[in-house]
Amino acid sequence: MSLSSSRDSGDLSWLPRPTDLSEELGKYIGKQVSYATHGIHRYPAKFIPQIPRFCLESYSRVGDDVLDPFMGSGTTLLESYILGRNSYGVDIHPLARMIAKVKITPLDPGHLDSMASRLFASIDADEDDNSEWIPEIPNRDHWFRPAVLADLATIKKHVWKIRKGDCQDFFKICFSSIIRKMSNSDADSLIPEVTSFRKKLDEQGKTSFDSIGKFENTVRNKLIDAEGLWRISRDVEENYRTVPVVKIIGKDAREIQLGDSEMDLAITSPPYASAVHYVSVHKLEMHWLGLIDDMAKLDGQIVGTSRAYVNEYRPWEPKTSIPELGRVLNGLVEKEKKSAYLVYKYFDDMRRNFAEMNRVLKRNGKYCMVAGENTLRKVRVPTYAILARIAVRSGFEVKAVYVYDVINRHLDIPRWNNSRIEKDHILVFQRKKAPTHRTL
Ligand SMILES: C[S@@+](CC[C@H](N)C(=O)[O-])C[C@H]1O[C@@H](n2cnc3c(N)ncnc32)[C@H](O)[C@@H]1O
Repeated sequence: MSLSSSRDSGDLSWLPRPTDLSEELGKYIGKQVSYATHGIHRYPAKFIPQIPRFCLESYSRVGDDVLDPFMGSGTTLLESYILGRNSYGVDIHPLARMIAKVKITPLDPGHLDSMASRLFASIDADEDDNSEWIPEIPNRDHWFRPAVLADLATIKKHVWKIRKGDCQDFFKICFSSIIRKMSNSDADSLIPEVTSFRKKLDEQGKTSFDSIGKFENTVRNKLIDAEGLWRISRDVEENYRTVPVVKIIGKDAREIQLGDSEMDLAITSPPYASAVHYVSVHKLEMHWLGLIDDMAKLDGQIVGTSRAYVNEYRPWEPKTSIPELGRVLNGLVEKEKKSAYLVYKYFDDMRRNFAEMNRVLKRNGKYCMVAGENTLRKVRVPTYAILARIAVRSGFEVKAVYVYDVINRHLDIPRWNNSRIEKDHILVFQRKKAPTHRTL
């Protein structure tokens, strides 16, 4: 095993001294972090819009081209649009791409409103048996009651009858937003789970299963969000000479569909090793939306996946010259080789992302990355420090480091199951030269 000694593994003195933004970023709560369409749908590990806004204001100008290679629900894209920057997003998750598309597409509220009234009328008048609209869901009856299945099928039928396009996607996202709430899953668990707590609430009659009422209320609330975005889009058209481009350009952050040296800035919060199971979190919604036919395949493409086959990790030997990573692999190999392999694979995938970012960013272009630490099998993973090492080997310089306290109220869904983050970092990398290393 060729691992570096752990003596220097905690040495972060080579990084620029961090500037603390806790006070600045800690003051935003409630509507301040979900204005316009920022709260259009739940999504795990969203960052608050003030983070990309801070990066955009610090490191770009009106008219610049900005990329988020792990865009999630599209927070960076909406903020870029508001600030007059062109933005491009990449995400492997089909629901993320749909949420982001709805989040960034201004729609005339008057038109949406009259569509909503027609939709409600046709749902309310429908007395048919619509069971043909119920999708195949493994363990379906565990997740949904028969009456809920029937109502969701009726809503789905009428939403799917709307002509394909932006308005239909808006109503699909409204529909998706109620799926988890109408299921038997505990509302607070990150991954759907039928808990005894939830069962007790159901027995006490404290939960509502009125799917049609819930859908109509949700649409009404989201119409207010859509109106907020519409108003913003009028201001954007007035304030900037050209309307900013907002585009979802592909799926994989390790293979970006852009030419060389096209982007001025990139901003992202990447996934972490084995931290959030992105496929499971929204599996019920994805079944109802018909967005997925092969969950296992998608899981395999996720950077930070916890899926690995024995024939992959059995022959694998930990080998790295990055001291912090060496220490983590040492600690994990002793406990479980699979976890060590998954962490290695995660950082190697991130190395591939850095290589791509080196290619698509202009010379001196900056890459702002939100990253913290996490814990896996009781081994501390200084993710941000390892990512900084990889960035340098990928031809970047570390220009600045910011830190801030992570407060869970900022997030829709708690970020980590059994791992915790207390401080996050915003690392600002600057593209300087070609990558010097092709391995970890
Ligand atoms: C921390 S989340 C980003 C959240 C985002 N900042 C927001 O505010 O919604 C990380 C994202 O990386 C995506 N992801 C994972 N593997 C990917 C890959 N190979 N290429 C692109 N995106 C990927 C996940 O689907 C997830 O949406």
